[in-house]
Amino acid sequence: MEKIIGIIGAMDTEVEQILAQAEITATETVAEMVFRKGRIGGTEIVVARCGMGKVNAAMCAQLLISRYNATHVINTGFAGALSAEVGIGDIVVSSEAVQHDFDVSPIGFRKGEIPFTGLVVFPADKATVDTACKVIAEALPDVRVLPGRVCSGDQFISDRAAKERICAEFGGLCCEMEGAAVAQVCHLNHVPFLVLRAVSDSADDTAGEEFNFNIFQNSVAAEFASAIVKLIPVL
Ligand code: ADE
Repeated sequence: MEKIIGIIGAMDTEVEQILAQAEITATETVAEMVFRKGRIGGTEIVVARCGMGKVNAAMCAQLLISRYNATHVINTGFAGALSAEVGIGDIVVSSEAVQHDFDVSPIGFRKGEIPFTGLVVFPADKATVDTACKVIAEALPDVRVLPGRVCSGDQFISDRAAKERICAEFGGLCCEMEGAAVAQVCHLNHVPFLVLRAVSDSADDTAGEEFNFNIFQNSVAAEFASAIVKLIPVL
C-alpha cells in the first residue's frame, strides 16, 4: 500500500511553510476546507488547513482518511507550555493526546474519558514517535525536542488558573486545540497519528500577547516545516 501522509494545521501560518516545500498537483474544497494534494520528495501528501478547534480537526482527519486514503496523519502547529520543563521554542512530539475539556464524570466516567472507547488518552505509535523525535532533533540541533502528552481543548489557554487546572488533572507538556481530536479519529480508524507542536507561549496571562506579537511564529515555522519535510519520507 502506498504511503499517503495527511498533514493538518489549524491556521495558515501552521501549514504554509510546508506547502512552500511541497509540489502541489491538485486542490479541492470539501466542507469549506481546502485540501492540497501533491508530493514531498517521493512521498504523496495531502495538506489541509482545518481551522481552529476539535470539531474542525476531527472533520479534517476523517476526510483525510476516508476521502484521501491517508495512511498516516500529522497535526502540526503551535502550542502553549504546560509543564515547567517546557519553554518557548521547544518542540513537543505527542507520545499521547488527551481532551482536557471532555468531562462526563458526573455519570461515572473518568475526567477526559471518551465514553465507550474506554480511553482517556489516545496513545501514538511508539516507533513513529521515536522516529519523529530523532529526525526532528537531527534537523534542528539547537532546539529541544520532547516526547510527551499533548492536552487539547476548545480554548486558547491564557490564564494561570486554567493552566493549573489542566496540569493538575492531566499533566502534559503542552496545550493546543486540535491534536487529541485528530488522535481520536485516527485511533478509531486504525491510522497512526503524530501531533507535532512548536511551543509559542506560556499558556498563562501573557499567552495572548506572546502568541500574537512575538516574531516566533514566522521565524520558527520555516525551520519546523523543514524538519517535518525531512520526517515525511521516513514515516
Ligand atoms: N496554541 C498555541 N498556544 C495555545 C494556548 N495557549 N492554548 C491553546 N492553544 C494554543
